[in-house]
Amino acid sequence: MVKTLVDRRGFLKATTGAFIGTTLPLTNVRLAFAGEREDFTFAYISDSHIQHIKGNKFVRNWDRGLIRAVAECNMLEPKPDFVFYGGDIAQLAKPEEIDHGLELLSALRYDTHYVMGEHDYYLDLGEYWSKLLGDQWYSFDHKGVHFVVLNSILTDHDWTYNRWKDGEERMSVMAGLDDPRGSPFMVGEEQRKWLAKDLKKVDKKKPVVVLSHSPLQKIFKNWNFWTDDAEEVQALLHKFDKVSVLYGHVHQIQYNQIGNISFYSAMATAWPWPYPETYAQAPSHLPELTVPMNRADPFFERDATGWQFIDVWSGRSNVTYRLPENSERTVAYNKEKGHPEDTEYAARNIPPQNHY
Ligand SMILES: [Fe+2]
Ligand SMILES: [Fe+2]
Repeated sequence: MVKTLVDRRGFLKATTGAFIGTTLPLTNVRLAFAGEREDFTFAYISDSHIQHIKGNKFVRNWDRGLIRAVAECNMLEPKPDFVFYGGDIAQLAKPEEIDHGLELLSALRYDTHYVMGEHDYYLDLGEYWSKLLGDQWYSFDHKGVHFVVLNSILTDHDWTYNRWKDGEERMSVMAGLDDPRGSPFMVGEEQRKWLAKDLKKVDKKKPVVVLSHSPLQKIFKNWNFWTDDAEEVQALLHKFDKVSVLYGHVHQIQYNQIGNISFYSAMATAWPWPYPETYAQAPSHLPELTVPMNRADPFFERDATGWQFIDVWSGRSNVTYRLPENSERTVAYNKEKGHPEDTEYAARNIPPQNHY
C-alpha cells in the first residue's frame, strides 16, 4: 500500500541517447531525436523551509531533508548538467535562514539556478535573496531547450505595501497556508511584458521549460495553489509546440495538461501538504488524488520521499514516480481523451471519492 504520494525531488529528463544505466534508482528512456539536441538531465530540489530557532539552532528535520537531497543529487549518474532550486529555501525569509539554506546547498557539485518562493520574499520583498542570488526572473538556453525562470509569488501593491505594520507581520501572514488575510499570487505585468519580449526570439519548435514557484494554473485558491494571472502567462506560451512548467510550493504530486502546456509539481524536502478534499477541478483533469493525506508518517523514514522523472521532449504530460516501496507510477498523456491519465495508480490505491 502506498501511503504517501509525495516525491521530494524532481528530475527532468531530456534524453536523446541510449538507455542509460544508473547507480540510483532512476530510469532514462531513449528518445530518437536528431539535430542539435543532446542528452542531458537536470535535477530539481524544492521547498526546504529552513527555519531558524535561535542562535545557531535550526529545525533539524528541515535541515536533514535538504542535506539528504543534496547528497543524493551529488551521487546521480548520469550527472545532471545543473540544478534548479524551486523556492522556499527559508521559512520566514530571515537572512539567517537563507544563509543557512545556501550553505547546505553549496555542497552541490553543480551550478544551481534559483527560483523565488514566498517564504524567501515577504519579509524584505526579496532584497536579501536578490543580493545573494541575483535576478528574480531570467532565461537561458541549454542544449536546444529554452529555460525561463519567473517570480510567480508577487501580489498587488496595496496588499504588499499598505496593510502591515512591518515586514515580519507581512511575512507571517503570507507564510500561513490558509490565512484568509493572505493574497493570491501573480506574475504581474512587468514580468509578463519581459516574458513576451524574451519569447519573441525563441523558435516555436524549441522546447520551452518554465520554472515558477506557485503553479501557473489555478488549482486551489484557499491555499494559494494558484496564480491570479495564470491564463495571461499561459497565453504567452501558446505558440510553442512543447512547453513544460515545473513548480514547487504545493508540496504534493500534481500534474496537468492545458493545451500545449504540461505542468508538473516537484515535492518538498521539508514536509508534504495534504490533498484538500475540496479539489474539484472538472475541466482541468488533475489527478484523482483527493485522498485526505495527513502529515508524513514519522515512523517511516522514507515517507514523503521518492523520485520523479519527467520527459520534456514529448511535450505532453509524461512522468514516472518511483515510490518509497519501489513501485512505479506512470502518468501518461491519453491522445484520444486529450488529458493525462494515471489509471493504474487510481485503480490500485484510491478509495471512493467524489468524482468530477
Ligand atoms: Fe513551500
Ligand atoms: Fe511556497
